[in-house]
Amino acid sequence: MKLWGGRFAGGPAEAMAALSASTHFDWRLAPYDIAGSRAHARVLRRAGLLDDGELDAMLAALDRLAKDVESGQFTPTVADEDVHTALERGLLERAGDELGGKLRAGRSRNDQVATLFRMWLRDAARRIASGTLDVVDALVDQAERHPEAVLPGRTHLQHAQPVLLAHHLLAHAQALLRDLGRLTDWDARTAESPYGSGALAGSSLGLDPDAVAHELGFVSSVDNSIDGTASRDFAAEFGFALAMLGVNLSRLAEEVIIWNTAEFSYVTLDDAWATGSSIMPQKKNPDVAELTRGKAGRLVGNLTGLLATLKAQPLAYNRDLQEDKEPVFDSVEQLELLLPAIAGMVGTLTFHTGRLAELAPAGFTLATDVAEWLVRQGVPFRAAHEAAGECVRVAETRGAGLDELTDDELAAVHPALTPAVREVLTIEGSVSSRDARGGTAPQRVAEQRDRLVSRLAAV
Ligand code: ARG
Repeated sequence: MKLWGGRFAGGPAEAMAALSASTHFDWRLAPYDIAGSRAHARVLRRAGLLDDGELDAMLAALDRLAKDVESGQFTPTVADEDVHTALERGLLERAGDELGGKLRAGRSRNDQVATLFRMWLRDAARRIASGTLDVVDALVDQAERHPEAVLPGRTHLQHAQPVLLAHHLLAHAQALLRDLGRLTDWDARTAESPYGSGALAGSSLGLDPDAVAHELGFVSSVDNSIDGTASRDFAAEFGFALAMLGVNLSRLAEEVIIWNTAEFSYVTLDDAWATGSSIMPQKKNPDVAELTRGKAGRLVGNLTGLLATLKAQPLAYNRDLQEDKEPVFDSVEQLELLLPAIAGMVGTLTFHTGRLAELAPAGFTLATDVAEWLVRQGVPFRAAHEAAGECVRVAETRGAGLDELTDDELAAVHPALTPAVREVLTIEGSVSSRDARGGTAPQRVAEQRDRLVSRLAAV
């Protein structure tokens, strides 16, 4: 069945129909399409285009159709061009041609699909947010289980300064919290319904687009019917929010992969979240983390593909826009697979806190503490930096740690370097000295955790 046979003498070629068909991916919009049809039937009634009896019969037929779709009794056929075509066939079969044929008045697949796509994405955003919250919870939980553990913080992947493990884990949680914020912001912009825009110019039938919008859970209808049917920046922005989430998860995953190597030995993966090798019996591989890293690339590709699809399209609707859905559907599907696995992997990591503590001072990570201690004694930072650097050179030459330099060695480097400097030459001393807001001191990290948890409660 087609929605546009009148002006054609013949049907489409087989290859034309095959190219055109989209039910293999847009069928998931069916429940939203039916919800749209119910709302549309009600505004047709209010505009006097259906009477009460017709409205009741229409709604009853739509209910039967919804049930049959849900049970799988009604499915699209190869002859149905898209989800809208299939469901109109389903409606005609249930309501009869006369009544069923009245529903299409004042709407177009162009405003329908733009509306249903938004609805599907808004629901998906909630599922993605909930899966992301589980990952954040797993990070916060690990942070709470290790309030005092330290590790060498890194820049350039080199040992930089000691930090609390909880501080590091919460840094990942902060990024994910922003990803959640992006979804919320996006939702506010996407809460406008294009239904009633028609093909592009709006409706002449006295229908109320706001009534439809409210029934479908939108805040309002769109201001501009051309924009309503032509714009897909909501899809691209959503694609970006998911790609960014994927990239943030990938950075966490990359660290887990490194931490899990024999050389680092920071963590052990739980058996449930690791895989083996078909040939090397000893292997225990971090596949969850690697798939996260891999799928992040796929999410980025979905976004760039969609942007490329959009970039040269004149207003309003073009059939190119049928290509807008698969990349975003795919990003959602991939994240729905990933998020529970990452939450499981992170939540069950065993951190080797003894080894982390041993490594924390390695590579002279306390050198900055020496320099800043000197600054507190009144030494200008340039000179303090030089002196601390010289301490590193002396210690390195004789294979010692900074805390093992003798009183004489310290004094020879700089007269202000008295034995009292040793108060910052412990990991605890260093970490607790960084006590400004946002710093790694245990008290500040605990406060950060509290703020984060209260912000999570508001998501
Ligand atoms: N299936 C199309 C899409 O997903 C909607 C149909 C609009 N077709 C048309 N000829 N205007 O974009």
